[in-house]
Amino acid sequence: MTEKQIEIKFQEYGSIDELNAEDRELAGAAIEAMSGAYAPYSHFFVGAAVRMSNGQIVRGSNQENAAFPSGLCAERTAMFSAGARYPDKDMTAIALAGGVMGRLTDRPATPCGACRQVMAQYQSKSGKPMPVIMVGKSKIWKFAKVDDILPLIFDSI
Ligand code: THU
Repeated sequence: MTEKQIEIKFQEYGSIDELNAEDRELAGAAIEAMSGAYAPYSHFFVGAAVRMSNGQIVRGSNQENAAFPSGLCAERTAMFSAGARYPDKDMTAIALAGGVMGRLTDRPATPCGACRQVMAQYQSKSGKPMPVIMVGKSKIWKFAKVDDILPLIFDSI
């Protein structure tokens, strides 16, 4: 038996002003997208913004439903919308932000497992690392690639 270890590095910023211009724009778009949330059940508003290889930013927000599993997270709403709108372009980065009743959480909201898997797919489609930026009020976390938040990605079919 050999014990193995997976090490994950990421960057923490104290405010979106510390981000580079592109990331700051994407983080701002994710915060703005929170206002599009339809969250009558959880009251947790999530916004996501995807940057495309043509520079366009596509936004999404969580959309809930009385039949709970029929609802969709902000990240997948944004990614599926981006994929449908720009099928020939790649997704180069994604940012997300969340908060109760639209008030940004202090600690960044983190994507659910299903959204991570979908990120992994579009990263693989693009053939390049896709940074993931999680935006909180007093902390911003930037992961250089989806693998860093979904180690041992399933991509084997
Ligand atoms: N939610 C997202 O939009 N993204 C995530 O990554 C986690 C959760 C949404 C789903 C639901 O509308 C609400 O947040 C509470 O779980």
